[in-house]
Amino acid sequence: MSEEVRVREGRSRSLAQALEEHLTEWAERTGITVEIWALPTRDVPPVVAGAVLGALGEALANVERHSGARVVSVAVTLGRGGLRMTVSDNGVGFFGEARGRGIAAMRAHFERVGGSCGVNGVPGEGTTVTGVVPRQD
Ligand SMILES: Nc1ncnc2c1ncn2[C@@H]1O[C@H](COP(=O)(O)OP(=O)(O)OP(=O)(O)O)[C@@H](O)[C@H]1O
Ligand SMILES: [Mg+2]
Repeated sequence: MSEEVRVREGRSRSLAQALEEHLTEWAERTGITVEIWALPTRDVPPVVAGAVLGALGEALANVERHSGARVVSVAVTLGRGGLRMTVSDNGVGFFGEARGRGIAAMRAHFERVGGSCGVNGVPGEGTTVTGVVPRQD
């Protein structure tokens, strides 16, 4: 694993592996440090995994393109209530409500599997994307 990726918590199975591979490649390509705070310890339906990976791709594209961040923290957890993804960077942030095709696509990825997401920028501090998929069983 790249030195740029620091794994801080456990992992398993295929969504976790896909996330780890994607994040490792992204960190190597961009030179931005990825801190993986948590990866899912169980697997999820492929459609949910696809939505998470799709939304993560848009979030990371924004980190690379807009944030100027040196570090981004990523957590994907499976709790009692469902799945939660958090992507948090220490870049320039933004003021007010961000709108664009990327954020709309992130939202569509989560809504496709019954979830939702939000993007919160704080000028000079950074940006956090949070997505949730409520447990469906
Ligand atoms: N991590 C971030 N750091 C700073 N600004 C951000 C970040 N994420 C989003 N933004 C702001 O929100 C705007 C909207 O993001 P969005 O992804 O929807 O569109 P975009 O990246 O400009 O274009 P694209 O359609 O190619 O994704 C961005 O133009 C940027 O100003
Ligand atoms: Mg974008």
